[in-house]
Amino acid sequence: MKSVNSSLVSVGRNRLEWAAKSMPVLNSIQQRFEKEKPLSGINIAACLHVTTETGVLMQTLKAGGADVRLCASNPLSTQDDVVATLVEDDGVNVYAEKGESREQFYQHIHQVLDVEPHVTMDDGADLVKTLHTERKDLLSNVRGGTEETTTGVIRLKAMAEKGVLEYPIIAVNDADTKHLFDNRYGTGQSTIDGIIRSTNRLIAGSVFVVCGYGWCGKGIAKTASGMGARVIVTEVEPIRALEALMDGYQVMSIAEASPLGDFFCTVTGDIHVIDVSHMEQMKDGAILCNAGHFNVEYNLSGLDSLADEKKEIRDGLEEFRLKDGRKLYLLGEGRLVNLAAAEGHPSGVIDMSFANQALCAEYLFGSSVKLQPRVYKVPENIDRLIASAKLESLNVNIDTLTPEQHSYLNSWEAGT
Ligand code: ADE
Repeated sequence: MKSVNSSLVSVGRNRLEWAAKSMPVLNSIQQRFEKEKPLSGINIAACLHVTTETGVLMQTLKAGGADVRLCASNPLSTQDDVVATLVEDDGVNVYAEKGESREQFYQHIHQVLDVEPHVTMDDGADLVKTLHTERKDLLSNVRGGTEETTTGVIRLKAMAEKGVLEYPIIAVNDADTKHLFDNRYGTGQSTIDGIIRSTNRLIAGSVFVVCGYGWCGKGIAKTASGMGARVIVTEVEPIRALEALMDGYQVMSIAEASPLGDFFCTVTGDIHVIDVSHMEQMKDGAILCNAGHFNVEYNLSGLDSLADEKKEIRDGLEEFRLKDGRKLYLLGEGRLVNLAAAEGHPSGVIDMSFANQALCAEYLFGSSVKLQPRVYKVPENIDRLIASAKLESLNVNIDTLTPEQHSYLNSWEAGT
């Protein structure tokens, strides 16, 4: 386990406790796990953003009896005070440090895999990829895994398709109680939070270009628009483009949007969505950021080659002075701006995502559960249970079908 900065322990403790207050669903799972110990004897290798919310998940898995090791799923998303508290106070083995190099990032993945996992818990599939390529000897020990994010699910489905995935994975991302809330409202709020923390610029009245209109893009567009930005959406998928149009945004190609934007935010999961030809057309002072999992959505080496000088202006804000005199500003090195420049999604929404993680880890060990090496959906009863528990924690009552309504919905005879 890495050595930690002990002076950060109490800061991390306060922040973890603050986050836990907004995570009632995960807390109730933690209380049950404490009594039932459903993960007793289970080794878990987790590769997640090391935030306060992840800290509460680690405490929950530990309460369930698991031996957990944690590393970061992104070199810039680690909150060092959380590491200090988890390691020194909670006895969780954490291998992560904000700003770690690529080499350290993979070294930490290997240290986590040394736990000889029965379960993997990944966010982006770097841990699963490393296990399947460099640590194959450990594969026979693994019962199953979970995946947190869209990009990871896409990679894992590609592995399954090619017949190289060796154990079942549950796509936590695809649960309704995950992507409809975390991806939309969580990414929406925390991305704008990251932009504001790193720039302190006014969003109202600006032209804000969102590249990609999946659940995350929808959330970012809605939040930016709610703050008074004029939002432009770019898409490659015609149904999503139409959706954006009818949601009230301007829709156009990135080539058309390039000279118009004050802010650009990519969230497509794809590579070089904003390329050199687009950056060549941007306004002086345009601000560029990314909310997709990997830092590939901008052609960053292309940006480097356009610039003759680059300097850090504020935390997480780099100025690129281009050879033609214009200046472009890149946030968080083009990595996930919501985690690199802010604290990630708020606890109130991650509560449901991590409740899915905890319950799916438990589900993998159910006596009747027999899964193949494929990517599975979260069982519907888990998804619904989490939604009900969240509503209950918010003191929201909903109706139930009357017997008459139930039988009407199951009949076909009654019509016009
Ligand atoms: N992904 C996005 N926000 C996060 C958070 N707060 N904690 C862990 N993973 C996240």
